Amino acid sequence: MQRRDFLEFVRLAGLASVIPNNWRVRFRPSFAENPFSLGVASGDPTPNAVTLWSRLAPRPLDPDGGMGGVRSAVNWEVSEREDFSTVLQRGRVTAAPELGHSVHVEVGSLEPDRHYFYRFMSGDAVSPVGRTRTTPGIGMGREPGGAALRMGVVSCQNFEDGYFTAYKHLAAEPLDLVIHLGDYIYEYSPGEGRVRRHATPEINSLGDYRIRYAECKADPMLQGAHQHFPWIVTWDDHEVDNNYAGLVGENGMESEEQMRNRRSAAYQAWWENQPVRVPRARSWSDLTIQRELSWGSLAQFWVLDTRQYRSDQACGDGAKAVPCGNWSDPTRTMLGARQEAWLSRGLAGNTARWQVLAQQVMMAPFDSTAGPTAQVSMDQWSGYPIARDRLLDRIGRTAPNRTVILTGDIHSNWVNEVRSSFSRPDAPVVAAEFVGTSISSGGDGADRSNAVNDRTLPENPHLKWQNSRRGYFTCQVSPTEWRTTYKTLPFVTRPDAPIGIASEWRVERGRAGLSGGER
Ligand SMILES: [Fe+2]
Repeated sequence: MQRRDFLEFVRLAGLASVIPNNWRVRFRPSFAENPFSLGVASGDPTPNAVTLWSRLAPRPLDPDGGMGGVRSAVNWEVSEREDFSTVLQRGRVTAAPELGHSVHVEVGSLEPDRHYFYRFMSGDAVSPVGRTRTTPGIGMGREPGGAALRMGVVSCQNFEDGYFTAYKHLAAEPLDLVIHLGDYIYEYSPGEGRVRRHATPEINSLGDYRIRYAECKADPMLQGAHQHFPWIVTWDDHEVDNNYAGLVGENGMESEEQMRNRRSAAYQAWWENQPVRVPRARSWSDLTIQRELSWGSLAQFWVLDTRQYRSDQACGDGAKAVPCGNWSDPTRTMLGARQEAWLSRGLAGNTARWQVLAQQVMMAPFDSTAGPTAQVSMDQWSGYPIARDRLLDRIGRTAPNRTVILTGDIHSNWVNEVRSSFSRPDAPVVAAEFVGTSISSGGDGADRSNAVNDRTLPENPHLKWQNSRRGYFTCQVSPTEWRTTYKTLPFVTRPDAPIGIASEWRVERGRAGLSGGER
């Protein structure tokens, strides 16, 4: 007998009083405030399954979300109709304190390429209705003129830096999918004179991280974007600690054991708060999140983790003149041996029309100094030149000019032509990189970064466009063509900014390079 059935049996038999209180599930919990204050979400769709998410938190900023350690039954329903007049599937799960009262429901036996609605119930409370969808089946999307994929790509949402207005606009887009490339939360202490204020000092414990997620997730515009589409989520550094590398923290002062504890808390809270199909690890500090997802035979997504396994940054975290220190040591890694081998094998064996890398830090270099010396970011792929050349060589040999790299991290928009090596100037263009700006991090921003100017542009011929406003980009993918549209907001430090198209780009499958520009 499963434990849940056992508990139900005990309850029906009137034996509840013999079970220790903390294991008792409340089948009809009552809530003074709305327990669905953090909304609902779905993610990691396949042709016949999707993960549904919610988290009970009647008082989001209280420790334990105001649940008082109570273990509560949560019912869920999936329907093809928004009014739930017919219900396709239903079930019951437990929201437990040891998992932050989060629930992850794996709904299977769905039809490919179809929309569904879902909702949760606990006690008398009913959640908002979410809309999600499955992916096309394998084989669909291969033929020219076949099904297109429309997706939004987002990253970096510092709660204090600005309003999440971009999400209001994103929710109104006709999209199939949203990809989040990390920095969903920021670990920092509250700052002065900001648009909004973190409720707690710099976060470190599991309780701290849970409260930080709750603060962010309570935002109605973020909730709206989750409610409309399934998401594919990965993390960047701020889900743990700025610029951390493996078990090395930002200031390099923590012991490995301290970093392991911090990662454990941060990774667990990430898992609890995201609609992901990521198996729980034996130890939370080693949670493996890289995974592959497909959109029929049109697109294959490789969702990467460039933080957990990387070697420490060479010569510090910032932009440095190269070569320096152990920068070009061939044993230094960005992905770690296992993830790198998995990606290499995957790229070589997959036949989808487009190979899509959903990852964090910029792949292409940006030399930020004029003149013969080069100065590049130690935190980006440019800080790991040998590992980058290995990956780009693999792309060049196995998936040239049908690979697109989606990047976040730096709160600005960059469009790059990616070569099969950035060590050899004659290496051919084999991929396109679209770097997306932040939702709010960095405040209002500017039309262009100061570093991109008439002196640096000629030294970076692979850079086609740069912009430092807030927003997101959308991609419209067909078997023969990839279109990316950058959308930006004039401000985020006040509410209700309008959104406009900043630039549009086109990649033709099988042809090197990209075309497009500002509108
Ligand atoms: Fe960020």
